[in-house]
Amino acid sequence: MQTINQLVSLREAVDALKNGGKSVALVPTMGALHEGHLTLVREAARRADHVIVSIFVNPRQFGPNEDLDAYPRRLAADAALLEAEGVALLWAPTVDQMYPQGYATNVSVSGVSEVACGAARPGHFDGVATVVCKLFNQVRPDIALFGEKDWQQLAVIRRMARDLDLTLPHADAIIGVETVREPSGLAMSSRNQYLTAAQREQAAGLSAGMRRAIAAIEGGADVAESLATLKANVLATGFDSIDYADLRDAATLEEVTVWNGRKARLLVAARIGGTRLIDNMGVGQ
Ligand code: PAF
Repeated sequence: MQTINQLVSLREAVDALKNGGKSVALVPTMGALHEGHLTLVREAARRADHVIVSIFVNPRQFGPNEDLDAYPRRLAADAALLEAEGVALLWAPTVDQMYPQGYATNVSVSGVSEVACGAARPGHFDGVATVVCKLFNQVRPDIALFGEKDWQQLAVIRRMARDLDLTLPHADAIIGVETVREPSGLAMSSRNQYLTAAQREQAAGLSAGMRRAIAAIEGGADVAESLATLKANVLATGFDSIDYADLRDAATLEEVTVWNGRKARLLVAARIGGTRLIDNMGVGQ
């Protein structure tokens, strides 16, 4: 596996991988890799000739009081994991490579970016859209894979790629991969390592509560009442606060107040100790 942190070397290396018409899959990450990321890498390897993984802790997607400095960074250990998975190339740019002196461009996706996490974390999805747009232009992959755990992120990236005619070769080249969960049901996340053992146990209450709310909604219960019960149950398991618990259209993320059988998504963000966890699950699928 080659590890590259300079853009000019990346371009040459990607061209070499694509030689002979070989396809390339990109898995963008911020590192601190866990089984969820490795699942994306394995799915990428099934779908393309070569897998490129990027690791870049993107400062533009962190708010002023968020965990940019604390965010786990362990490039050597991540590289060893990727090497063992047969990844062809690790793109690990520095902040200066990604945003050189004088950098001034922002990609902002309205609508899908403005609700849920977008409302709770102003500017977050501009940072995500900007860096993913740059990664697509830098790597020019045939396909790109993202975890469904960040459902809203996936919706933002799909919207951006369509709106900006990004040169991914086909409409469904942006692939969402199902959330990988701990045996307790807790969705895997690099931020789970902030949790104490006790908090990790309590955090499992989030997915359990969500499953109960979904069963209620699918069984015909009132959406607002089901969401209120979900919030109460999540707080009762030990969470300190809930940023949001929303039922939304799976693609547009418009709010769903009456569920009529269409594909919807239950999206939740809640805080336990100093850690903000997000999760989402399908309704009606
Ligand atoms: O999901 C992530 O890890 C990040 O938001 C991404 C897509 C790599 C952009 O920085």
